[in-house]
Amino acid sequence: MELFNYRKSYNKDKLNISDIGKNPIDFFVKWFKEAEKSDQIIEPNAMTISTIDENNFPSSRVVLLKQIKDRSIVFFTNYNSKKGKSLEKNKNICASFYWAPLERQVIIRGHAEKTSINESENYFNSRPFESQAAAIISNQSEDIDSYESLLEMYNSFIDQNKNTKLKRPYNWGGIEIFINQIEFWQGRKNRLHNRVLCNFIENNWDYKLLSP
Ligand SMILES: Cc1cc2nc3c(=O)[nH]c(=O)nc-3n(C[C@H](O)[C@H](O)[C@H](O)COP(=O)(O)O)c2cc1C
Repeated sequence: MELFNYRKSYNKDKLNISDIGKNPIDFFVKWFKEAEKSDQIIEPNAMTISTIDENNFPSSRVVLLKQIKDRSIVFFTNYNSKKGKSLEKNKNICASFYWAPLERQVIIRGHAEKTSINESENYFNSRPFESQAAAIISNQSEDIDSYESLLEMYNSFIDQNKNTKLKRPYNWGGIEIFINQIEFWQGRKNRLHNRVLCNFIENNWDYKLLSP
């Protein structure tokens, strides 16, 4: 299969260093809100995170961004999953968003830490019962015998725990990405895209333009 004829032109907006302002996280929030407003972006908070495993191999997968803080972002997962185990050994992480209808990409790099138990519990307790149950019974990233056996385990767990307040399993919680670098990409005409790279160095943000 050849895909050589896919050739979209980008012309929705432009981006200068001066647009970013003093704090690139605030600018990220601004772009995020614009993505939220677009009817064509169904899950603006879906981001691809990449981690490095024990064999030095990268793995990427989509997770949902759940919080933007002053200099960090948070998602929730199973700490025993492949990504969880990789992050135990190597805290370096990259998160990227592609908001196609806005012709924008954001790439965040930083290091990952577990959120506090309190934060993990608060979020777990806010989830629907069914999602809590799924988080409890799923050994995320492990082999299973069949989908039916998983469903059976889930249904019998639900039967046994109806009307119970479920407790967060110790191996499920938040991962906070402390941001060292954030790149904003705006698609432009003739592949001459705008790229602004923001590095957090000695407590200050430093900005650079990058060639497309
Ligand atoms: C739209 C979307 C949202 C997802 N959100 C999450 C999430 O917030 N947390 C999570 O652990 N997995 C989420 N997943 C599943 C992950 O992509 C992945 O399959 C899972 O975390 C196991 O990854 P791992 O084996 O590399 O650790 C999501 C997948 C998709 C497509």
